[in-house]
Amino acid sequence: MLGQNVINTFWFERPLWVAVDSFTAEEEAPEVEEFIYHRPVLESEVLELIEPKPGSLIVDATCGGGGHTEAFLESGANVLALDRDPDAIQHVSEQLARFGKRLAVRQANFRCATSVLDELGIRTIGGALFDIGVSSRQLENSERGFSFMRNGPLDMRMDPRAQPTAAAIINEYSEEQLTRLFRELGEEPAARRIASLIVKTRKSAPFRETLPLARAIEKLVGRHGRHHPATQVFQALRMEVNDELGALEEGLRALTTRLECGGRIAVITFHSLEDRIVKNFFRDHSREWLDKPEWPAPQRNPDYDLKLITPKPVEPTEEERRMNPRSRSAKLRVAEKT
Ligand SMILES: C[S@@+](CC[C@H](N)C(=O)[O-])C[C@H]1O[C@@H](n2cnc3c(N)ncnc32)[C@H](O)[C@@H]1O
Repeated sequence: MLGQNVINTFWFERPLWVAVDSFTAEEEAPEVEEFIYHRPVLESEVLELIEPKPGSLIVDATCGGGGHTEAFLESGANVLALDRDPDAIQHVSEQLARFGKRLAVRQANFRCATSVLDELGIRTIGGALFDIGVSSRQLENSERGFSFMRNGPLDMRMDPRAQPTAAAIINEYSEEQLTRLFRELGEEPAARRIASLIVKTRKSAPFRETLPLARAIEKLVGRHGRHHPATQVFQALRMEVNDELGALEEGLRALTTRLECGGRIAVITFHSLEDRIVKNFFRDHSREWLDKPEWPAPQRNPDYDLKLITPKPVEPTEEERRMNPRSRSAKLRVAEKT
C-alpha cells in the first residue's frame, strides 16, 4: 500500500480547458463529456509486456491523462504516477481518486525519480513505464505554446516553474546555437536559413508568440508535403526547453536501478533520437560480457542488469494508427531486470 496521495497543490492551476480565451474556447473546447485528455498509445501491448502483478508497485513516470495508470490499477497493481506538468497531476488525481491509497501522484521530473522514491520510503519497484513526449492536452491548449496551429505564448514548458521558455531560446540563443538546435534535435534541412531569419527578425521585433514564428518559417521555406514547415523547429524547441533527451537518460538509469528482479521497464518513444537513447541503454545494460581486441580476455560488464524482452520495437497496429493518428510514430521497447 502506498501512503497518502502526494500532490503539490501550490502549483495547481484551474483546469486549463476553462482557462483559454473565449474565441479559443468556442472554437476548440470540446463538450465536457467528450473531453479526452490523451488517448493512451499501445495500451494493451504495455500491459501484456510489463505483466503487472496484483499488489506490486508500478511507476508511471509520465502519467499525462492517466490512461496507462488506470490500466495498471485495474490490473491490480499499485501505481506511483509522476508528471512534470501540474495540469496532468491535477487531472489524474481527480480522475483516478476512486483507487484511494493504491495510487500516489506526484509532480516531479522523472529524472528525479530516486528522490521521490526515497521520500516515499520505497526501495524497489515492480515495473516502470515512460511514455515520452507531449500529451494531446498539452498540444491542444494554446496557452501552453506547444502548437504551431494555435496562437499562444512561446512557452512550451511542461513544468511552468522551470526555465527557459521557448521565447528565451528563440530570442537569446546565437545564430550558431539555433542552427545546431534545429539541425540536431529537429533534423531540419533549412536549419541555417531559419536561424538566420530569426536572428535578423528579432533585432526589431522579438518573438513572443507561436503563430508569428510558425508563419515566418512557412514564408521562408514554403509548404512541401503534408507536414507544416514549422513542425521540426517546434519539436526541437520543445525538446530543448524541457531537456527531454537528458531527462530520459537519467530517468532510465534511476528507475532501472530500483527495479526488483524480474520487474520490467517499458519505454514508448515518438522520435528517433529518443528511441536511439533507449535502444543503446538497453543494449549497454543487457550485455553480460564486454570484449575489446586489446583486452587479454572478455570482462564482465559492470552495467549488466537487464534482459531484452523486445529485441525489435513494438509498433501500433494498423487499426490503432487509424483510430489514433498520433500513435503513428510510436515505438515500444521493454527490458527485464536480471
Ligand atoms: C505522451 S504523454 C503521457 C500520456 C499517458 N501515458 C496517458 O496514458 O495519458 C507524456 C507526458 O509526459 C510528461 N513528461 C515529459 N517529460 C517528463 C519528465 N522528464 N518527467 C515527468 N514527466 C514528463 C508530459 O508532461 C506529458 O504529460
